[in-house]
Amino acid sequence: MSLVNIEDFHVKLIMVGGKGGVGKTTCASAIALKLAMDKRKVLIISSDPTPSLSDIFEKEVGDRETRVHDEYELYALEVSSEIVLKRWKERFGPEIYEVISSFASIDYDFVDYIGSAPGIEEEYMLNFIMELVEGGSYNVVVWDTAPAGHTLRLLKLPELFLAHMEAATKFYMNMYGYLEKIKDAVKLKESKRTLLEIIAGWESLSEKIVAFIRNPEAVKYLIVTIPEALGVKLTGRVLSELEENQLKVENIIVNNVVKDEDCEFHRKRKAMQDHYIDFLKNTYNNKNIFLLYCAPYEIKGVERIMEISRALFP
Ligand SMILES: Nc1ncnc2c1ncn2[C@@H]1O[C@H](COP(=O)(O)OP(=O)(O)O)[C@@H](O)[C@H]1O
Ligand SMILES: [Mg+2]
Repeated sequence: MSLVNIEDFHVKLIMVGGKGGVGKTTCASAIALKLAMDKRKVLIISSDPTPSLSDIFEKEVGDRETRVHDEYELYALEVSSEIVLKRWKERFGPEIYEVISSFASIDYDFVDYIGSAPGIEEEYMLNFIMELVEGGSYNVVVWDTAPAGHTLRLLKLPELFLAHMEAATKFYMNMYGYLEKIKDAVKLKESKRTLLEIIAGWESLSEKIVAFIRNPEAVKYLIVTIPEALGVKLTGRVLSELEENQLKVENIIVNNVVKDEDCEFHRKRKAMQDHYIDFLKNTYNNKNIFLLYCAPYEIKGVERIMEISRALFP
């Protein structure tokens, strides 16, 4: 069973998760490169607050889609909080303002205030990714996510998202029952839309995101871990949270595996790792477990990434 079926053109988004430092960026880059070599136009995007795509591809990436391979159509993007918040503001600012200013006297700055609420950024991230995927500029997007805790919060998004938008317009929501009754009277000044129509728009966007992230044909979730107690523990947590949210994980990459017992140190290390590898295999016997050996060097530059691709797609 292959890690990702390279021939499957239904796959639009591959999400790589796991705790910090286990090799997410390395594996995401190797998968992205493999897909690009297969004549796909690929975008690898990192939402890690300390992104390292620039380091691994040895090319300045930043918040613009940047081509990172001369021959293949491989692009990279590091999204910052600022960019996500800016997009959020462009998308929702006018509507939030429209809603609230229709019954309260507020400055447009109020939108910034709402945007600074905790969670907004992560909540908007999925929409950002969905737009990239659906925008059609790329055949497939590989998402190198932020370390686990961050990502988990993010995946609760669809429900949270709406809750947040509602909280943002709490004023309005408090009067919801009342406004419902006088619906026609609360037609907005400039547009012909009612407040309820705007809220309904947010609701349907939230539903669209849920449908998008739960489409198992288009979106594949992959966890990277290491064969150590902490890695195994976190994997369990991430998996159950993903699955509670009806997001199915098919593949787990176990990285940094010791290959040869060529000395006492490696023999001991391998014995330790074997214990956790067996545990993972037994516990997740319905998933594909891939072992990725620890290379004697760091993974930096396209040549080294290519070696990881070959290991992941033998
Ligand atoms: N299989 C491997 N062999 C050797 N070094 C690796 C391997 N996988 C990852 N690394 C190294 O480990 C470090 C962390 O990997 P990285 O992909 O940046 O982790 P994450 O994105 O999960 O924080 C990097 O320096 C990378 O080069
Ligand atoms: Mg990383």
